Amino acid sequence: MKWLIVLAVVSFAAGAKIKCMVGTKETECADGITKCSGPLFKEYTGIVDAKVTYACNKCAGETKGKTCEECTGSATAACNKAKEVGVDFSCYKYSYNDTAKAFAAAANATVCKRLKATAISCNMPKVNATKTTYTSTSGCGNCTKSDTHCETCTKDKCNKKSSAIRVAVLLAPLLAVFFNLL
Ligand SMILES: *[C@@H]1O[C@H](CO)[C@@H](O)[C@H](O)[C@H]1NC(C)=O
Ligand SMILES: *[C@@H]1O[C@H](CO)[C@@H](O)[C@H](O)[C@H]1NC(C)=O
Ligand SMILES: *[C@@H]1O[C@H](CO)[C@@H](O)[C@H](O)[C@H]1NC(C)=O
Ligand SMILES: *[C@@H]1O[C@H](CO)[C@@H](O)[C@H](O)[C@H]1NC(C)=O
Repeated sequence: MKWLIVLAVVSFAAGAKIKCMVGTKETECADGITKCSGPLFKEYTGIVDAKVTYACNKCAGETKGKTCEECTGSATAACNKAKEVGVDFSCYKYSYNDTAKAFAAAANATVCKRLKATAISCNMPKVNATKTTYTSTSGCGNCTKSDTHCETCTKDKCNKKSSAIRVAVLLAPLLAVFFNLL
């Protein structure tokens, strides 16, 4: 009797239809479908292609890992639910000026996207960085391991050294001298 129940449960599980989000609705998929898919979220960039939909079955064509991601389906809950995101933040993008042979920050900051548990991170070129030692194209997120002249900071719009700070840095020793003279 016990074995019959186990067999029954196993065969039920094997034949059970999975659920996936289809658009914004949790939906039972057709027989034989084992995967759900949805738009790929890239840390700091956000959803790569908003045209990719939440659906039953695998990613279309060659889109897996590029604009789409898959998960293994379950009969109890959709595995492709929209991910919870954190509050957007901004960072400054840097471009290399071939004349000045140096990086310059953009006038305006760029919006960076993140998942709920991801901390704010902006990156910027260190002194003497070149196009090969600093390769970030957005200023959002961590430095890559191979970028030797890259540093990060962890506040909104923190990756631009303001002239106020530079003045303060220059003035500090002068002030120290001044107060020592008193
Ligand atoms: C690049 O640097 C040169 C020299 O400092 C400057 O005159 C020029 O405006 C800069 N170009 C850009 C695109 O910012
Ligand atoms: C920066 O933002 C200001 C104000 O929103 C806008 O007028 C200006 O065109 C922007 N500059 C660039 C380079 O995008
Ligand atoms: C940057 O380059 C200049 C000129 O080559 C050099 O004198 C200076 O030490 C370098 N600074 C750093 C922090 O590497
Ligand atoms: C960025 O770097 C920080 C500090 O090393 C690390 O804690 C964090 O997990 C990194 N974030 C991502 C998304 O890799």
